Amino acid sequence: MPVPAPSADARAVVTGASQNIGEALALELASRGHHLIVTARREDVLRTLADRITEKYGVTVEVRPVDLADPSERGKLCDELAVRNISILCANAGTATFGPVASLDPVAEQAQVQLNVLGVHDLALAVVPGMVERKAGGILISGSVAGNSPIPNNATYAATKAFVNTFSESLRGELKHAGVHVTLLAPGPVRETLPDAHEQTLVEKLIPDFLWISTEYTAKLSLDGLERNKMRIVPGVTSKAMSVGAGYAPRAIVTPIIGAVYKKLGGD
Ligand SMILES: NC(=O)c1ccc[n+]([C@@H]2O[C@H](COP(=O)([O-])OP(=O)(O)OC[C@H]3O[C@@H](n4cnc5c(N)ncnc54)[C@H](OP(=O)(O)O)[C@@H]3O)[C@@H](O)[C@H]2O)c1
Repeated sequence: MPVPAPSADARAVVTGASQNIGEALALELASRGHHLIVTARREDVLRTLADRITEKYGVTVEVRPVDLADPSERGKLCDELAVRNISILCANAGTATFGPVASLDPVAEQAQVQLNVLGVHDLALAVVPGMVERKAGGILISGSVAGNSPIPNNATYAATKAFVNTFSESLRGELKHAGVHVTLLAPGPVRETLPDAHEQTLVEKLIPDFLWISTEYTAKLSLDGLERNKMRIVPGVTSKAMSVGAGYAPRAIVTPIIGAVYKKLGGD
């Protein structure tokens, strides 16, 4: 069975919906007629987005302000999703830090693991039983090409993305005959628009404009891929080149080179 068509009592959930890829996924799902639950921490931003989406596409948008790095807040959302008719889960929220782990704030590193790993795993575990029972559903997980190889100076992020990349592709294998689609989005650089030169972060300055892929294109490609139960969506040539490089080049040679590039992103 394909990913369920929109229906009045079903909801497509998007985490990290307040900006960039998550916002684009919410807009694309709404344009396809799905009613939504959008979540992130900033309630005001989510409410503005919800009003914009409802006005444009006429769908219901429920707002859930949740800190997914907080086990208790995450648990409450999971409890709700477990008893709702969730047709699609886009487990998208994630953050990255740059620099050597020894110099980073341990609390922020731990929060990153809570968000990037458990914010995906717990939500997937909450919705999978209902999807299997209904023999229908779609789970899109935002991993990264960063999860394909070790990355010194981006260690926590790379490790969390290795977890979700592997979890997504494993889960897909388990659910293949259960009628539930699972697709991994593993992008390289994606952003909505590139800010003016004086406002750009170091990451934005280091990656030339033409290599950035738009959030709108990424969202369309990902949701089309989910419809077809594609294993992995890797948008754009940069992401594809990074994926192939990580897949075939020996780790002992590539790791110090990647580490040196990411050292710059850490501000050294
Ligand atoms: N953009 C890229 O180039 C790229 C490349 C590879 C992989 N990815 C992955 O794709 C996903 C989306 O990327 P993005 O660039 O769109 O991310 P982003 O612009 O940094 O946005 C992150 C989203 O997550 C939410 N969020 C952050 N911390 C949270 C928390 N503790 N609890 C709940 N929500 C939280 C943010 O909203 P609030 O601040 O309102 O909470 C925001 O909506 C991430 O998993 C990222 O790792 C992105």
